[in-house]
Amino acid sequence: MKKLILLLFIAGGFFACDSNTVEPTDVQPSLPETAYNYSDLKVPTQDQFSFQELQANSANPKVTDDGATLGRVLFYDNKLSINNKVSCGSCHLQSKAFADNKDFSEGFEGRLTERNSIAIINPNYCQNLFWDSRAGSALDLTLKPVQNHIEMGIEDLDFLAKKLSKVDYYKDLFQKAYGSNEVTPQKLSDAVAQFLCSMTTFDSKFDRGVNSNFSNFTALERKGEQLFNSSELKCASCHSGITFNAELNTSSYSQPDVKGATNIGLDRKSKDKGKEDGKFRIPSLRNVELTGPYMHDGRLKTLEEVIDHYSNKIQYSEHLDIKFKNGNKAVKLNISDDDKAALVAFLKTLTDETYISDPKYSDPFVK
Ligand code: HEC
Ligand code: HEC
Repeated sequence: MKKLILLLFIAGGFFACDSNTVEPTDVQPSLPETAYNYSDLKVPTQDQFSFQELQANSANPKVTDDGATLGRVLFYDNKLSINNKVSCGSCHLQSKAFADNKDFSEGFEGRLTERNSIAIINPNYCQNLFWDSRAGSALDLTLKPVQNHIEMGIEDLDFLAKKLSKVDYYKDLFQKAYGSNEVTPQKLSDAVAQFLCSMTTFDSKFDRGVNSNFSNFTALERKGEQLFNSSELKCASCHSGITFNAELNTSSYSQPDVKGATNIGLDRKSKDKGKEDGKFRIPSLRNVELTGPYMHDGRLKTLEEVIDHYSNKIQYSEHLDIKFKNGNKAVKLNISDDDKAALVAFLKTLTDETYISDPKYSDPFVK
């Protein structure tokens, strides 16, 4: 009988548990004695590279070790969703350079996101985030997924602040990061932004070769590098500079008014209009080996399929990027099989093994 009562008690407790309660059996984050070094951002300087100087987005907060530590815990905490089911880390996997390996990701109720999860690649150096460039900085973006009705479902950020202020382990983390354990939406946003901004990935085979004219590359990779930068294929004119991202501040970009988003002819008529007229944000190609499926809707599964698209599948529409227009037709680049293999080999030199294994970016709730 005693056992039954106990069981009923446990079951009752279980079902009474709503998003507001914090279970005593909570998994605690395991954190290092001394905070990891997040404040040293380890980005290349102008001297190291022949590219233009890398400018952090001035809208973002300064990264401190304690601020980013708090941000890391928040990033991986399921409590940021209304029913404690998903965290940022559920759709942004470190092993995939913080992309997801699915076309679309599952939100807190199991419903699918409308677009493919984007890898998190040097966000401190981006002026346009999300597939439609709708966020101007990492700080501007941080709590939007929390409020999204498919992703995490907490519209009221004051409610989130109250919810988290009841969680023991946050008291100390907020105290260290901000000198007070009060939880506010501003601090939540700032801390997650600090963690995002601490995420830098510049330690690939490409980075190790850039100063030595790629003497560390195989012949195939070197050929791929040349093709990528060639005026025929023009890859580097969109995926440009040391970030391999859309470059917004230079005159080299053909249509600067579209905020780093453009139409690459995936569809003649696009169901998802992106920023407008089928224009999507030009994604960074760093770690692209790991971030498939590709494109805003995950339609292309492999890098070979992506190169095939550029080779002879670009569809003409009036909104197609001028770089791909040839009068009233789409260009046919007709990339040979050898050149395709070289391009893919080059793209794979952009993989940063340190980024995907660095414990400072890992899930602290996993033992
Ligand atoms: C349910 C899955 C899901 C969750 C949870 C989620 N995201 Fe995302 N994330 C996405 C998808 C899908 C996109 C692309 C959305 C779009 O472009 O419209 C995205 C885009 C992003 C980007 C843009 C990257 C870029 O370069 O443009 C960042 C940064 C990001 N998410 C961070 C976060 C943070 C921080 C959290 C937690 C507060 C979070 N995400 C929670 C699925 C998710
Ligand atoms: C006119 C600008 C432009 C040019 C030139 C260009 N791209 Fe892209 N690229 C984009 C845009 C925009 C997307 C995203 C499109 C979407 O999702 O709808 C993209 C997507 C990609 C992706 C998928 C990335 C991901 O994370 O899903 C790869 C890989 C890629 N491009 C490689 C290349 C290569 C290789 C070349 C040269 C053959 C090239 N691109 C030329 C603009 C460009």
